[in-house]
Amino acid sequence: MDIARTPDENPEMADAAIEPKQPPVIYRKDYKPFPWLVPATRLHFDLCAERTRITATLQVERNPAADASPTLLLNGDGLTPLSVRVDGAEADKWAMDGDNLQLTLTGDVHEIEIVTEIDPSANTQLMGLYASNGMLCTQCEAEGFRRITFFPDRPDVLSTYTVTMTGSKAEFPVLLSNGNKAAEGENDDGTHWAEWHDPWPKPSYLFALVAGDLVVNTDSFITMSGKKVDLAIYVRDGDLDRTGHAMRSLIKSMEWDEQTFGREYDLDVFNIVAVSDFNMGAMENKGLNVFNTKYVLADPETATDGDFDGVEGVIAHEYFHNWSGNRITCQDWFQLSLKEGFTVLRDQLFSQDMQGEAVKRIEDVRILRSAQFPEDSGPLAHPIRPDSFREISNFYTATVYNKGAEVIRMMRTMCGPEAFRKGTDLYFDRHDGEAATCEDFIAAMEDGAGLDLKQFRLWYSQAGTPKVVVDLAHQGTIATLTLRQTVPATPDRPGKKPMPIPVKIALFDRNTGAHAGEQLIVLKTEEQSFDFDGFAGKPVLSINRGFSAPVTIEREIADEDLVFLAAKDDDPFARYEAMQDLVVGHLTTASGNGLDDVSREAGRLAIARAFEAVLTDETLDDSMRGELMMLPGLTYLMEQQLVADPSRIHAEREGLKAWLGARFEERLATLHQRLADVPYDQEAASRGARKVKTQALVYLAAGNPGCASKMAAAQYDAADNMTDRQGALMVLTGLGTAARTDKLIHFHRRYANNELVVDKWFALQASSLHPNAIEHVKALAEHKDFTIRNPNRVRSLYMAFAANPHAFHAANGEGYRLIADLILELDPINPQTAARFVPPLGRWRRIEPARAAMMRGELERIKAADNLSRDTFEQVTRSLG
Ligand code: TRP
Ligand code: ZN
Repeated sequence: MDIARTPDENPEMADAAIEPKQPPVIYRKDYKPFPWLVPATRLHFDLCAERTRITATLQVERNPAADASPTLLLNGDGLTPLSVRVDGAEADKWAMDGDNLQLTLTGDVHEIEIVTEIDPSANTQLMGLYASNGMLCTQCEAEGFRRITFFPDRPDVLSTYTVTMTGSKAEFPVLLSNGNKAAEGENDDGTHWAEWHDPWPKPSYLFALVAGDLVVNTDSFITMSGKKVDLAIYVRDGDLDRTGHAMRSLIKSMEWDEQTFGREYDLDVFNIVAVSDFNMGAMENKGLNVFNTKYVLADPETATDGDFDGVEGVIAHEYFHNWSGNRITCQDWFQLSLKEGFTVLRDQLFSQDMQGEAVKRIEDVRILRSAQFPEDSGPLAHPIRPDSFREISNFYTATVYNKGAEVIRMMRTMCGPEAFRKGTDLYFDRHDGEAATCEDFIAAMEDGAGLDLKQFRLWYSQAGTPKVVVDLAHQGTIATLTLRQTVPATPDRPGKKPMPIPVKIALFDRNTGAHAGEQLIVLKTEEQSFDFDGFAGKPVLSINRGFSAPVTIEREIADEDLVFLAAKDDDPFARYEAMQDLVVGHLTTASGNGLDDVSREAGRLAIARAFEAVLTDETLDDSMRGELMMLPGLTYLMEQQLVADPSRIHAEREGLKAWLGARFEERLATLHQRLADVPYDQEAASRGARKVKTQALVYLAAGNPGCASKMAAAQYDAADNMTDRQGALMVLTGLGTAARTDKLIHFHRRYANNELVVDKWFALQASSLHPNAIEHVKALAEHKDFTIRNPNRVRSLYMAFAANPHAFHAANGEGYRLIADLILELDPINPQTAARFVPPLGRWRRIEPARAAMMRGELERIKAADNLSRDTFEQVTRSLG
C-alpha cells in the first residue's frame, strides 16, 4: 500500500515543485503546414513613442494543403487584444492560450481584425517595435512580429502587406515600410500619414516599419532589364557624410548579383535605415533593410580598413537576401542555413571579387576557426540544420552562418563555378515565391549542377568538425597519400558516419620547388589511399588548399617542409597555413608537454626562417605579408589542446612574439619606416602598408616595449586615418607607458561625439594585453559613457573582454564572475544579447580543472536565478550538459 508523503519527503515531487517551468523544446520532425492561409494583411499604425495602436486586418482562408482545423492560433508575445472582430462583427469565439490568441472559425474564408496597443519606449529587448534615439523602428526576425500584433508568426505563412501609419509630423517626418510608397498626406492636427504596399508575398519576419527624423543620401541604379531603382540610405542628422561607402557598396552589390548569379532587383525603391540600438549586424526586410550604424557609417577619419570591409560585406549580405531569403524564404526556422549559409557564401564571393581572393579567404577561415570550431567542439555543437531548439535566437550561430557557407562552397568546389551557377539558377527558378527547405536546395544542386549529393547530405545532419589524418609514403616513383577521417561525437549525437570531404592537394618537387598541378580528391570512406606516379624523391605535400573543406588536418610533417611551403607554396591559403602550422605546432608542444630550452630554441629558429622569408619576399604584396605575419590567436591555440591551460599558452605565445620582435627589431623598424611614407587611400597597396605597419608594431612592442611605445605614439600622432590611429593605440593600450594614458585620453576627447568610435575606445582597453585589463574593464563599466541598454556598447566592453583570453581566464576566476554578473544584469533587459555571453563560460570542459570548476560554478549561479529568459536558460542548461 502507498504511504502518502508530503512533497518534502518525496524527492521527485519536491524537485517538481522547485524546478521552474521549462520552455518547451521544438523539434524539426514535428513540422506541419499551417491550417490557414493569409493571402493579404493590412496594418495600420497610430504611432506614438509611448503608446502605439495597431489595427491588423487579416484575410484568412483554409489551407487546402493542410489538415482542416476550425481553430486559428495566432501568436502573440506580451500582447492583450483590445478588440477582436471576425467579418466585421465583434467576435465571441476567441480565447487566450497563454500568450497566443485562439479563434474558432466556422467558414472557409474570413476577415479578422485585431487591435493591440504597445509601448515602444519600454521595449528594451529591441525585438518588435521599439524606440531608438527618438526614432521608431522594428526588428521582427525571428519571432518579433508577435510583439506587435497577433499573427501566424512563422516563415511559411506568406502574405502581401499594405501598411498605413499616422504620426506627429514634427517627431516622425519620415515614414517608411516595405515595398513602394502608395500614398501620403497631412492631417489638420499636426500629424501626417503614409501608405506603403509590398506586392511580394512575404513572411511576417520580413515586415519592417521606420518612423523618425532622418536625413537621406539618395542615388539610383538601372537594373539589367533597364528598370530604374531609387536607392536611399537614411541616417541621423550629422551622419550623412559617412554614407558614401555604403551607397557605393550597395550599387556594387546590385551589379555583382546580376553578373554572378543573374539576380535582378524587383521593387522601385531600395531603402536602408541605420539604427544605433540593434541586436545584430543588419536585417534584410523586403525593400527596407535596417542596419546597425556600425555597418553603414564609414569614413577614413572614423572607420578602419576592417570597418570599411565590414560595411561592404554586410550591405552585400542583406542585399543578396532579397533573393536568397526573401523571394525564396525558409519553411521553418530549422532551415535557417538555407538562407544564411547561402547568403554568407554569396557575400564572401562578392568580397573576394572586390578585395582580392587570397586575403579574403584567409580572413574567412580565421573567423571560422575562431568562432565556429569552438562551437563545434563544445556543448553547444549543432548541425548546420539543427533538429531541435528552445529559442531560435540562439541558433543564429557561426555554425548556421559560416559553416553553412562552407558546406555550399564545397558543392561549388566539387562541380566548378559554371555548374554551380546552373544549380543556383534552377534553385531560384524552381522555388521562387516559396518557403523552401535545405533539402530543396540540395535537390536543385543535384538536378542543376549534376552533383550526386546522397552522402553529402550528412553535412547537414552531423555536427562536429571532421578530423582528417594524413600520411604520405614514398616508394620507387610512387607517392601514396592515405587519408583517414573521423567525425567526432557531439552532445546531440554519438555515432557518426564518414562524409565526403573534397580535398585539394599539390605535390611539390623538393628540388625544383614546382608541382605538376593541383588535384581535387574526395575522401568518401573512413580511410582511402591515392597513388601518384612520377616522383623520384619524396614530394612535399600541400593539402586542403584554399581550405577546400572545413576540417582539421592532422599530420606528421617536418618543420623544414613547413618552412618550404611557407616560402614557396603558390596557393596563398596553403602558404599561410604552413606558416600557421609551424607556429601552432611549436606553441602547442611548448605549452603542452613543455619543451627544454634547446628544443624551444630549435622550434623558434624554424619559425624565424619562415618569418624572415615573409618579411623580405619582394613578390609578396603587403596585404598578404600582413596576413602571414599574424600569429594564430589564443582561442585557436587553446582549441588545439584537449584541455588547455590559458596562462601557459599565453606565456608561450607572448614569449615567441618577444623573441621574434627582438630578433628582427631592425628589420621590422625599417619596414615600418618605409611603409609610413605610403599615402592614405583605399587601394590594396595602401591598405596592405597599414596592415604591415601595425603588425610590425605588435612584434616590436613585445621585443622592445620602450622603443615600440615611441614608434606607436609617433604613428598615432602622424595618422590621417583611423586604421593607423587605432592600430597604434591598440599597441599602446597593451603597454604600461605614459604614452598609453596620453593617447587614450586624447582619443576619447577627439571622438567623444561619435558613438562608434567611443565603442572602439572601450573595446581596445577590454581586449588589451595589459596585465590589468580586468581592472580597466571594471572601471570602464562605471564610466559615464557606458550603458547596458545599447548592445554595441555592451559588446564593445564585455564581448571584447570575453574574447581576451589572458584577462577572461584570470586564474582567480574574476573574469568569469564579471561575465556571469553581466549576464544576470542584462538578461531581464535584453535576453537575446545576454544569451550571447554564455558560450565563453560554456567552454569549461576544455580548460584546466581549477578554472573549469569556477566556470561551471558561474553557470550554476546563473541557472539558479529566478525568471531567466528562454534564451539564457537554454544556453546555460546546454552548457552545463
Ligand atoms: N537575418 C539577419 C541577417 O543575417 C540576422 C538578424 C538581424 C537577426 N537581426 C536579428 C536574427 C535579430 C535574430 C534576431 O542578416
Ligand atoms: Zn543573413
